[in-house]
Amino acid sequence: MTRSFRIAPSLLSADFARLGDEVHAVIDAGADLVHFDVMDNHYVPNLTVGPLVCEAIRPHASVPIDVHLMVQPVDRIVPDFAKAGATYVSFHPEASSHVDRTIALIRDHGMRPGLVLNPATPTGWLDWTVDKLDLVLLMSVNPGFGGQAFIPGSIDKVRRVRDLLAAAGSDAPIEIDGGIDLNTAADVVAAGASILVAGNAIFGTVDPEAATRALRTAALRSTSPA
Ligand code: DX5
Ligand code: ZN
Repeated sequence: MTRSFRIAPSLLSADFARLGDEVHAVIDAGADLVHFDVMDNHYVPNLTVGPLVCEAIRPHASVPIDVHLMVQPVDRIVPDFAKAGATYVSFHPEASSHVDRTIALIRDHGMRPGLVLNPATPTGWLDWTVDKLDLVLLMSVNPGFGGQAFIPGSIDKVRRVRDLLAAAGSDAPIEIDGGIDLNTAADVVAAGASILVAGNAIFGTVDPEAATRALRTAALRSTSPA
């Protein structure tokens, strides 16, 4: 069965002193989205970047910017990402006091809402939200840091969410984030993931362009007839 997928390099592992060049390099290599990790040293024990940096890379990104909010609270930062040119904004439901309201807020600001489930977060969060989501982001590591090992049980979760989305008649893509590399890419695509986030596997190498192409080739193995 042929499955299509998109590659979303995570800037978390990029050289922050040359972010514009890093964005150009992976887009030249065929990246479909740019994944932008926002951490607040509160919801997760790490601190990264916010709307100002998103706005700064916007002119360099000819593909959609895929913002992953690891912040608590969520709502007050949402309008700033609309101004900064984000396309997708995904958030963790346990970080929001009113999940339905946050989804609507993202949509009302002209962006595409996604819900993020950590490795131990139940899929039940999708029960009353699935018809309002443009994306489901499954974490295959605990959020906060790049370069962590892929949690193998994530494959089953991708399958379960794939079935849940199909049963609900949703065509929202499943994005997977954490430990995606040449070894894990094909398996997650085969299970039903269609957006692959990769930080260390791309920007942790000496040649991010070549690494982006290699990841696509590796993921394509799951779409070749056996
Ligand atoms: C982790 C971030 C990821 C991170 C993934 O909390 O959400 O996007 O960059 O990094 P790798 O691909 O190195 O596991
Ligand atoms: Zn992320």
